[in-house]
Amino acid sequence: MTRVNHPIPAAATEAWSLRRARKDDFGAIARVQTDGWRDSFRGVMPDNVLDGPLLEDHRTLWRRMLSSRGGFGDDGHPWLAVDATGRVIGFSAYGPVRGSSWSHDAEIYALYVETAWHGHGLGRALVRQTAKSLLEQHRTSLLLWALEDNLKARAFYEHIGGKLIDREAHNFGGVWLPEVAYEWPNMAQLGE
Ligand SMILES: CC(C)(COP(=O)(O)OP(=O)(O)OC[C@H]1O[C@@H](n2cnc3c(N)ncnc32)[C@H](O)[C@@H]1OP(=O)(O)O)[C@@H](O)C(=O)NCCC(=O)NCCS
Repeated sequence: MTRVNHPIPAAATEAWSLRRARKDDFGAIARVQTDGWRDSFRGVMPDNVLDGPLLEDHRTLWRRMLSSRGGFGDDGHPWLAVDATGRVIGFSAYGPVRGSSWSHDAEIYALYVETAWHGHGLGRALVRQTAKSLLEQHRTSLLLWALEDNLKARAFYEHIGGKLIDREAHNFGGVWLPEVAYEWPNMAQLGE
């Protein structure tokens, strides 16, 4: 198993590390994503979406995504951040760019860090490790989408060099919401 260890962040009480997701991590990934939506997207996404059966939906999605027919190859399984007890506290899912009119060859599909761990360097570490994996697949340019009103995530992407290039509505559980696209035309800058 590939594991990348990190020193204890100054303000955190526990060490953390990165490892690749396995098939049986689908529930933990779904939990982190569901908590992330409910903690960070209140007022951005409609309440009926956030208060619906989100966890069940995300478990179904991630069980399929991590199955052999789910689309991620062995070298494309998400990267997870785990705390000292092995609990999953963040993840990054990525791969080839999805149906875009842009010419980028890689996309981050999802990036989530548990709220209690925000600001401890996990988001940057997940992006860096993801960029390294994509560069190893000979992909060179990165695109990702964020909800237009997710101002905190947008500020993070801008802080790590993302350039705003597009705006489009996407469907979230039956609701159309505006998203914005950020690009890193030279992904090597993120893998350093
Ligand atoms: C966005 C998110 C992944 C960032 O992860 P994080 O672990 O909190 O970020 P980090 O601690 O790695 O921050 C890395 C750098 O970005 C900066 N940064 C983080 N959030 C920022 C913000 N909102 N505004 C400006 N800078 C920010 C940090 O100060 C740090 O800077 P430095 O390395 O130069 O000192 C995390 O906040 C998150 O999971 N949010 C909720 C879910 C979400 O919105 N996901 C994105 C969906 S598109």
